[in-house]
Order: sequence, then C-alpha cells, then structure tokens
Amino acid sequence: MSATSLSFDPPRGMRDFYPEDMRWRNRVFDAWREASVNYGFQPYDACVVESLDLLQRKSGEEVSEQIYHFEDKSGRKLALRPEMTPTLARMIAARQGQLGFPVKWFTVAQCFRYERMTRGRKREHYQWNMDIVGEESVSAEIEILAAAAAALHAMGMPADAYRIRVNNRALLAELLAASGIAPKHHAAVFLALDKRGKISDDEITALLCAEGLDSAAIGKTFELLGVETLDQAAALAGPASPALAALRELFALADIYGIADRLVFDIAVIRGLAYYTGIVFEAFDTQRRFRAIFGGGRYDSLLTTIGGAPTPAVGLGFGDVVVVEVLKELLGEAAAADKRGVVIGYMFPEQREAATRLARSLREQGERVDLMLARLKPKQFFARASASDAADAIFIGPDDVAACSAKRKDLATREETVIALA
Ligand code: HAM
Repeated sequence: MSATSLSFDPPRGMRDFYPEDMRWRNRVFDAWREASVNYGFQPYDACVVESLDLLQRKSGEEVSEQIYHFEDKSGRKLALRPEMTPTLARMIAARQGQLGFPVKWFTVAQCFRYERMTRGRKREHYQWNMDIVGEESVSAEIEILAAAAAALHAMGMPADAYRIRVNNRALLAELLAASGIAPKHHAAVFLALDKRGKISDDEITALLCAEGLDSAAIGKTFELLGVETLDQAAALAGPASPALAALRELFALADIYGIADRLVFDIAVIRGLAYYTGIVFEAFDTQRRFRAIFGGGRYDSLLTTIGGAPTPAVGLGFGDVVVVEVLKELLGEAAAADKRGVVIGYMFPEQREAATRLARSLREQGERVDLMLARLKPKQFFARASASDAADAIFIGPDDVAACSAKRKDLATREETVIALA
C-alpha cells in the first residue's frame, strides 16, 4: 500500500481529541468526578475488553446487536464493552460476601457500540456510571439524580436548560396487566414502546403483533402512552399502586433535594435495556433538540440473572457526546477555555537566560508557565500568547533585563503589573 492511500481520519465513529476537544472533555470529566466524590461515591474500573457471554442478552435489545466482538488467539470470545453495567454486576457478584451494602460506586468508562451514526451517536463514547447496589428505597434514585444535576451545574448547564423525565416500569407493568396484557409480554412491550419516535407506530404495531398481542391489546397499549399525570395514572392503577407510591415519594424527595423543578413524569420514558425493573429516567435538553443526555434506572434482577444473590440496584449512564453538543450550543464553542498561568517570551537570544530563570522560578512556585522555545518578535509573541491557554504574558526585551524588571500583562484586561527579574 502506498503511503498516500492512508487516511488521516480515525476509523468511522471513533474520535480523535485535539487540545480544543480535550478542553471540553476535561470540563465534563472534572464535573463527573467532582459530583461523584461530593456525593460519597467510590471509584472503580475494569478493562474495556469483557467476555462476550456476559454482555450478550437474548432479549432483542439494540445494544446486544451492536457489540464489537472478536476471538483471541486461544479462541476466547471477547468484546469491547458497550456499557458498564454487566461488568459492574460481575464485579459485585464476585465479592458479594465481602462487600458492605449498599455500595455507591462510580467510573468513567469508554464504551463501544456499532451504532448507526446520527447526531449525538458515535461508535465510541465515554460514559459516567454511578450505581448504588443494595438499596431498595428511592433514596438511591434521588441521590443519583441529585448527583447528576450537580455535575450538570458544575459544567455550566443552567437548571432550566434540561429536564429529567421519570417513569416507573413497574407502573407500566401494572397498567398493562390491568389492560389484560400478561406479564410474559411486558418485557417485549417495553422494548417495542421504547422505539417510539425512532421507528413508526406501524412498525411498533408490527412488533407487538409478532409478540402475540391482538389489536385490542395493541390499542390499549398505545392508549397508556396518553397518560400525562400521576393522577391520571392513579385513576387507572388504583390509589394503592406501589409503583405509583414510589414515584410520588421520589418527587417529594426531589423537592427536599432542590431539584423538583427539573423532574417531570413521562410515561413514554421506558429505556431500551431489558434489565430495568422499576423507576427509569432520561434527561433531555428542555427543547428536546438533542438525544438523551443521560439515562438510567432500577435493575433489581440483574445480579441474579448473572448468577449472583438477589440484590437491588439503581444506576445511571451519562455520555460525553450529547452534553458537549448541548453545552457548546448554550455557552458557545469557546466556553471551555480555562485560561490560567503565564506565557513567557523574549526578544533576542541575550534575554533567553533571564526568561528561563523567571520561568524556572514561577514553575517552582507551582505556576503554569509556557516558555517560548525561541526568540520572537513582540507581535508574534503576543499573537501566540493570546491563542494560548495562559491568562497572562511576560515579554522580556533588552530594557527589561537592564532594569531588572518586566511587565506581566493580563491578556483579557490588558492591565500590566511590574515584576522583578531577580
Ligand atoms: P444507555 O441509555 O444505553 O444506558 O446509555 C447511557 C448514556 O450513554 C446515554 O444517555 C448517552 O448519554 C450515552 N450513550 C450511549 N450510547 C452512545 C453512543 N453510541 N454515542 C454517544 N453516547 C452514547 C446504559 O448504558 C446503562 N448501562 C446505564 C446504566 C448504568 N443503567 C444503570 N446503570
């Protein structure tokens, strides 16, 4: 192959991160880590390569069909993880006897999915995962939602710019059962209804038909999606519904946590993963111009599915792709700049020593210093300083060395302070 035929692009759907991209990525990662630690979550990690057996489920979820998989040289069937939850469940199951429950763990995991590429969807993304394992009450859900809200705040996202849409699969199950749809169909109905908006209602009808639902049952299923309030749901499910009580408690707690303004009930939020058993949620920009910013929910049966002891669990997955698109639109492309420290330059080779000594001294004091590698003309230097990540600039010429002082210029305000060149 000739060198000219090599593409400079990364493989389709994979991303390169240039410094201007890293500014955004770091802003997001810093907010994720800070919120996790501030809410009492402990870090964990695992390898991006997982065994295919753990990741594959036969429920007809999209994610199972999107797995990048391969065989190693010994014929082991391996995969790049498309999500972190099965790995977390495996790690918890491996130490189930030793861990003190509930555990609150977080990680930032790179995940791979062979996706159809659309806005906000790549074939690789970083996903913040926060999970609470071993807590049955909605205290777990609200902690996770409040931590996610704290991370969005730290990134600069205004509270009115997003909404967290909350539902309960158990409520939907109660309503489906009340409509005469047997529990054995519920999982398939959830996955079909989750596709609403992505495929046509006719295609969803075809999926429900294939599951064995007759046209009356399909009609009732679509009718349920018209429920708009918890009171309407109560009229159908009955006032004693435990699923409804859990939702009401979550909204009451949201008020105490100060995030009630961002939470809305939405019966159409179902989630595309089969393992959820209870409350589910997805966050969107308020205008709903982008895909989900994050999603998650309660999955009380996953540990038993993989062979562990029954353990309740709630978690969230929050990707880096959509949130950066939303933030750029709200705050502008340049908003991630974090200008700190100083650029130091010099006019002639004779000032190199003074510039280097100053850089050394400031670096020893812990300051960020970008020392120019060669002499520059003043115009060149200030153009480079303005384009850099530094807040200030110091340019040393012959007169400065003679006077044993130089000017430190704030690049934003153009204010100058005189500093000593010792
Ligand atoms: P998920 O909804 O499949 O859930 O993904 C969670 C988030 O990851 C999405 O809301 C989105 O931000 C991001 N994401 C997913 N796929 C892509 C993609 N192809 N490109 C860009 N971003 C993407 C889960 O993965 C669950 N395991 C979350 C969870 C944790 N549930 C409980 N614990």
